[in-house]
Parts: sequence; C-alpha cells; structure tokens
Amino acid sequence: MTERVKIFDTTLRDGEQSPGASMNTGEKLRLATQLERLGVDIIEAGFPAASEGDFEAVSKIAGKLERTEVAGLARANKSDIDKAWGAIQHAAKPRIHTFIATSDIHLEYKLRMDRDAVLRATIEAVQYARTLTDNVEFSAEDGSRSDRDYLCKVFGAAIEAGATTVNLPDTVGYAIPEEFADLVAYVMQHTPNIHQATLSVHCHNDLGLATANTIAAINAGARQAEVTINGIGERAGNTSLEEVVMALHTRPNYLPMETGILTEHIYPTSRLVSMITGIMVQPNKAIVGANAFAHEAGIHQDGMLKNPMTYEIMRPETIGLSANKLVLGKHSGRHALREHLSEMGYDLSDEELQIVFTKFKELADKKKSVVDEDLEAIVTEGILRSSEVFELEYLHVSAGTTVMPMASVQLAIHGRSQKGAGYGNGPIDAVYEAIAKMTGTDSELLRFSISALTGGTDAQGEVTVRLKENGLVALGRGSDPDIITASAKAYVNGLNRLEYLKANPVTTRQGL
Ligand code: KIV
Ligand code: ZN
Repeated sequence: MTERVKIFDTTLRDGEQSPGASMNTGEKLRLATQLERLGVDIIEAGFPAASEGDFEAVSKIAGKLERTEVAGLARANKSDIDKAWGAIQHAAKPRIHTFIATSDIHLEYKLRMDRDAVLRATIEAVQYARTLTDNVEFSAEDGSRSDRDYLCKVFGAAIEAGATTVNLPDTVGYAIPEEFADLVAYVMQHTPNIHQATLSVHCHNDLGLATANTIAAINAGARQAEVTINGIGERAGNTSLEEVVMALHTRPNYLPMETGILTEHIYPTSRLVSMITGIMVQPNKAIVGANAFAHEAGIHQDGMLKNPMTYEIMRPETIGLSANKLVLGKHSGRHALREHLSEMGYDLSDEELQIVFTKFKELADKKKSVVDEDLEAIVTEGILRSSEVFELEYLHVSAGTTVMPMASVQLAIHGRSQKGAGYGNGPIDAVYEAIAKMTGTDSELLRFSISALTGGTDAQGEVTVRLKENGLVALGRGSDPDIITASAKAYVNGLNRLEYLKANPVTTRQGL
C-alpha cells in the first residue's frame, strides 16, 4: 500500500539562512502562498525570536494560510516558545517546532550542558509547548552525530512529554546514506513509543548527499522530509524539495510513497524562489536546472524524437515546464495578461495588475515577444518590491572609447525624488558610484554576474550582485533589456535588502 510522506518546507527559515538570501515580509508572504498552492504539508515560516522582522513575517503568514500547517522555530526555552506561539497562534493549523542539540560536541562546546540537563530542557520545552498547542515538533540538532542510545532516550522523552513529530537532523551534512538509514532504523527499533509520533529527517548538503540521505531515511521508516525549494539553505544548503518529491514520483515501484505535492507547480515555485532571493539555480541542477531537460548529443536527440522515454525519465510538463509557453506581444490585452499570470500562480489585485500591465506594455515595445520569464521579472520587481527605501526612477549614461564614463541617476529615496551623478572606469562603475553617493551607503560589491533571461538578442539582461556593508550581506537582482539599467536595478535591490537587514537586526543566534 502507498504510504504518505509529509513535506515540511523550510525555505523561509533554513533557506533564508543562505548567505544573502534575506527576504522582506511581502516576499515571504508571496512565497508562502505559492508553497501552499504547491501542496506542502507544513511551512516553517521563520524563527520568531530571531528578529522583529521574522516575528512579523511569521505572524502575517500564519494569518494568511488556510490549509497548510505553519510552524515557528524556537530553541528549547520558554521565552523562544512564547515568541513562536505569539507569532503563529492565530494560524488555522499552528505548529511549534522546538529544538536542542544532542551531540556531545555541541553539548560540551556550544551549550556547556551535560546530557541530563539537555534531557530535562527537552522535556520542559515540549511540555510547555504542549500547554499552548497539541501540534509540537521536537528536533535533536546534530542528531546524526549524537550517541544513538542517548538520541533514542531524548526522542522517547520528547514523545512522552507530548511531541507529535520528532525530527532527526543531519545538521552538518556528515551522514552517508546507508549509515543514515541504519540510524533511522535504530531509532525506530530502540525508541519504544516512536509509533506515537511521526519520525522526520532534516538533511544538509555539505557532502552533496542530502537527497540521498533523505530518500534512504524514508525507506527506513521516516515519514516527514524537511526540505527547501532549490535546496537553498545554510552553507551547502538543505535537501531540495523537488529532488525528493520527483524521486518518489518517478520511482513508485521502488519507493511506494506519495506526497501531497502538485508537481506541476514545482518549476514556477523554483523560479519564484530564484527571483525573490537572487540565488539562481545552477544549469545542471536536477529537476529545475536550465539543462535538466536539454538533450545535446545527436544520438540522444535521435532517440528522443523516436520516443521521449529513451532518454527522459520524467516529462517536463510534470514539473510545470511547458515547451509551448504562451507568448504575449504588444497587442495582448489586460484580460489575456491576467489569465496568463493566474495560470503562472500570480493572482493579482486590480491595482497590481495595472502596474504589471503598464510595465508589460513598456517591455513589449522594446521586445518582440514577452514570455513567462519576462513576466516573472516584472511581477517580482513591480509588485513584490513595492514600498522600498530606494527606487530607481531614471538613468542616463554616457560612455565610449573617447569619453570618461558618466552617469546621471534619479532615485526616489523614501518616496522623494533626488538627482545625482557619478564617474567611473566604466558605465556600470559610474552608475554604482552615483547611487552609492546618493544613498549614503558604503557597501562592498562582493560579486557581480550577468546573464540573459531568455534566448534571443532582444532578451532581457539579468544581473545579480552580492553586497556587504558593516558585516551584513545581501543579494540583489535586476532585469532589463538594457544591461546598464539591469545592473542599476540589481544594485538598488541589494541596497534595499541591506536596509531591511539594518532595520531588522537579528537579535539572537540560533544556537543556545
Ligand atoms: O540543521 C538543523 O539541525 C536545523 C534544526 C533547527 C532543525 O535546522
Ligand atoms: Zn537545518
């Protein structure tokens, strides 16, 4: 019989811990809505004790979602649990997720607690969380490097105290699939009350084994997988949702397990995460990379023409990647645009549609055909980024072989238009110099990359930047048919993200 594996998405919490991937509240709300549409069972919306911004975002998400459980992360102490509960209590389906490390190395050097003290903290935290809700998850941080019998003892005590899910993380991405499966089986056998809770796994990708470990764990009895879209997350990232879901979907004979994921929303969700965070997916990334369904070798192309199943184990349509994308042009009307955006997962208000329609017409004047990637960029830049500190209003650049590159820029700063100019050793340098002066910022440009959003010489340029200021790191993304303008938009977006980080300082670190 086919069993159900719950998908717990932590893109908004562990995913946001990717360097520079901070998202503002509007972006988080938009992503949470898309994750609900995708069909995930639980959304970990954030870590409310970490900052006021996190608390606010978790609270708004909790108020919005109807079908999906909303989890708030909390360390194993009363104050964090109260914060988490404060943020999620009005959710239709709230879940408190509390954690403490169980490995000796964490106990000795990070927590400076002994095993008995950690066991007591676990029991107290879970018991307290249970006074607030009957949906409590407990995680044993660094579980994969913990003493097995102690891990089982902690899980047993957590379940006894009322945990309904116990989560076994491979926090540092150290496990090997056979070993991790063996650990899961051991936990199943040596935790007497394990069947009163769901056993979950949460893997990091430091050795590139997160998906393999998660699948091995599911085979050994885990029934919840903690994942992120595109595998983003701390360091090398987390298990990627699309890889686990499509492995289960593609290999039902070997893995007779189902999820609630509507696979056709996988690709649009992946794109949305890239658009919002500025973290682009590598071309050879499984399932959602640009080359995942591209066949280069002649012999493969020949086979594909005869029967796609010769070289393709999944159809691109299954993940929502259609070869026949609707192409809109300058004569397309508002109605066609609304319909198409809705199919892409964007249900816009009349006011939002007006903004997107205006930008769409502007783009359609410059570019023969407007495709999904262009529309995604318009929505991300036009809707999700509204009400920001800095906004690019106007840009003029003179550059060439005989003139010193010079830029005139007009920005709205807190809604007030201001003009400025800058010189540089190239046009982008001149624009960045002008913007830095006008905004009074002093960020370091750590990385700059440029690519084309689609094929064709009239494609929009897509620029991503990584900026650092006073120890804070933010990514910025911008697109435009003009690459200088795309560069300016990316820089302004990065500066806005830095402003958000400055206004929402992380008051607490995750470790106790
Ligand atoms: O990696 C980890 O151990 C975590 C826990 C908080 C679940 O993210
Ligand atoms: Zn993690």
